[in-house]
Amino acid sequence: MLIDLHPQPADMTRLVIEGMGRSPKQLPAWLLYDAEGSRLFEAICEQPEYGLTRTETALLEARAPELAAALGPGVVVEFGAGNARKVSPLISALRPAAYVALDISADHLAPACQALQRRHPDLPVLGICCDYSLLEQLPGHPALEGHGRLGFYPGSSIGNFDPAGAQALLRQFHRLLGTGSRLLIGIDQPKAKERLEAAYNDAAGWSEAFARNLLTRLNRDLGGDFQSADFGYRAWWDAERGRIAMALVSQRELEVQLAGRYWPFAAGEPLITEYSYKYAPEAFLALAATAGWQGAAQWSDPAGDFALHLLVQADSEQHRSDP
Ligand SMILES: C[S@@+](CC[C@H](N)C(=O)[O-])C[C@H]1O[C@@H](n2cnc3c(N)ncnc32)[C@H](O)[C@@H]1O
Repeated sequence: MLIDLHPQPADMTRLVIEGMGRSPKQLPAWLLYDAEGSRLFEAICEQPEYGLTRTETALLEARAPELAAALGPGVVVEFGAGNARKVSPLISALRPAAYVALDISADHLAPACQALQRRHPDLPVLGICCDYSLLEQLPGHPALEGHGRLGFYPGSSIGNFDPAGAQALLRQFHRLLGTGSRLLIGIDQPKAKERLEAAYNDAAGWSEAFARNLLTRLNRDLGGDFQSADFGYRAWWDAERGRIAMALVSQRELEVQLAGRYWPFAAGEPLITEYSYKYAPEAFLALAATAGWQGAAQWSDPAGDFALHLLVQADSEQHRSDP
């Protein structure tokens, strides 16, 4: 079953006007994910330079029984499910009461839920197309009633938000999941600049195509007149802020029409398409604590490139001991 709560055109227009008015210009990362954006993201995940997906998937597969034991029973709620493949080993080990996939990319969500349902035929599956950062509550559904909620947020997607936004998002998840819930979250670690920059600048050009697709989407859905050739693509590690920044950079002074307004670009001016903040475990746990979550357990790959953190609510009495 699929519920459509995708932001309305007026809300998208408002967000785009707000983002284009920032300095530097920056649009919400979720706008990257239309049907084509989701397809391009899948291709990025397979590039040799982008190890994140392979590392996290291997960790989930290797540690599924431990993760399931630490999570305990309940309904799994995945934020930004994408193709919903990473959750499969967890579902097999956990046998949750139901699975809820939240994702903004409507055309991608339906086939992802169908494929997951084929892999787990007895599992109640619910897809919700929405912006999870703004969802007021999970829609009522009989399969969700009477069970605790286990949040799953893989892919280090929290890195798309700046630290204040990440704190607000963790509070939002706290609210959506409810008292006594748990959250399993995947976090990419800071690593050598060369490795990080290569991961977001793959030689085959998928990362660039993914960023450029944003312009196609803005032209189609928000009345834009971007010319892709007017922009170059850049991804760079900002060590001071602990983030990769990805941007389309204007090649000359120009003006673009978008969302019913004209927007000037200076030569060399960036339009930030997304950030990817990286957190060492201590730094991430300190951030989580500011949003009412406490680290209960942590799993890493042997190279220490990526960590899965199990968070419990700091005010909950249902903490489990570390596995
Ligand atoms: C980086 S991809 C990760 C996909 C998958 N979870 C993984 O780990 O491979 C981010 C996913 O979250 C979705 N997404 C991004 N921002 C979102 C938002 N604000 N609300 C709902 N879904 C969002 C995208 O459509 C995409 O499927």
